[in-house]
Amino acid sequence: MLSSRRKTLENRKLGRSDIEVSVLALGCWPLGGGTGWGDEDERESIATIHAALDHGINFFDTAEAYNDGRSEEIVGKALADRRDRAVIGTKIGPSYTEPSVLRQYCEASLSRLQTDYIDLYMVHWPITTHSVADSFAVLDDLQREGKIRAIGISNFGVRQLTEALQTGVQLDANQLCYSLLSRAIEFEILPMCQEHCISVTAYMPLMQGLLADKYRTIDEVPPFRARTRHFSGDRPGARHGGPGAEVEVFAALDAVRSIAQELGEPMANVALAWLMSKPGVTSVLAGARRPDQIERNVKVTSLVLESEVIERLDQVTDALKQVLGSNADYWQEGENSRSR
Ligand SMILES: NC(=O)c1ccc[n+]([C@@H]2O[C@H](COP(=O)([O-])OP(=O)(O)OC[C@H]3O[C@@H](n4cnc5c(N)ncnc54)[C@H](OP(=O)(O)O)[C@@H]3O)[C@@H](O)[C@H]2O)c1
Repeated sequence: MLSSRRKTLENRKLGRSDIEVSVLALGCWPLGGGTGWGDEDERESIATIHAALDHGINFFDTAEAYNDGRSEEIVGKALADRRDRAVIGTKIGPSYTEPSVLRQYCEASLSRLQTDYIDLYMVHWPITTHSVADSFAVLDDLQREGKIRAIGISNFGVRQLTEALQTGVQLDANQLCYSLLSRAIEFEILPMCQEHCISVTAYMPLMQGLLADKYRTIDEVPPFRARTRHFSGDRPGARHGGPGAEVEVFAALDAVRSIAQELGEPMANVALAWLMSKPGVTSVLAGARRPDQIERNVKVTSLVLESEVIERLDQVTDALKQVLGSNADYWQEGENSRSR
């Protein structure tokens, strides 16, 4: 008979920085609406951010690219009079890290966020078109000037991480896709981050609803959510062209569902608790757009899975892990993979 325990929402240290972030963060991509998200009510988004703070979530993840800057604007508006209680992470697109424009993009984010410092400034995807060293030198300058508290990266593979580390800049976080259905980083990237004391912050922890048991068959998954390498490359909008792993995905989901049922917990709770148990994971970025979703997700952080449950979850998702392999880019593969 499987069992679980309860604990309170904890904070964890971000890399080697002096920043403490809540283990559950608010993923702010949906805020502001836009492609795939539909219309968004600004008052509700702001209420969601306030509810998060009130429930002990201090870490807010956004990006200049999210809904053309609207996500940053809403985060800025919501936190303007409570900035000292929040840790804001935002990201810059790799092409904008070209040294002649990087500073201008950083200033634009600062302005949308209504703040004079960004706690964690991340390079959203690896840089391929110009010198990594030159870009990180500007980030280093911005950190010295106090405009950035910590420098992070996102979606960087082992080779790119090595290159970034060689610049000598202190990296405090690597934001990566990680969930029971997306375990590529376990092969090499997660151990390397641990070795260098770089926090992993996990995005798409519920695999856009699949691990919340929203979809029982492939036909139920909306096209916008079926573009990753988990699904056939024939699906609308897919860019990877590969065979996908649909049989393994739904077999893994069936097995996770039955473990969750045995525990008497919703599948989403088990999926989030599994991630929070993984060494090297500092924070889990779960999306929410309404205050009641915050309440529901915060309850999850109290769930502690016994090691026996974690091992069972590892086992039942291993076949999928092996098929999808070590490529941390779940949208593109082969020569087109952006994470190397
Ligand atoms: N660095 C990067 O390249 C990158 C890429 C992607 C995401 N991110 C970050 O990661 C954050 C999270 O990613 P995500 O929102 O795509 O993925 P996610 O958290 O895996 O999925 C969010 C979706 O799952 C459903 N959901 C969430 N909690 C639920 C619950 N307790 N019960 C039932 N359904 C639930 C909701 O679907 P419905 O909307 O249908 O209710 C929600 O939209 C983003 O907001 C963003 O900040 C970063």
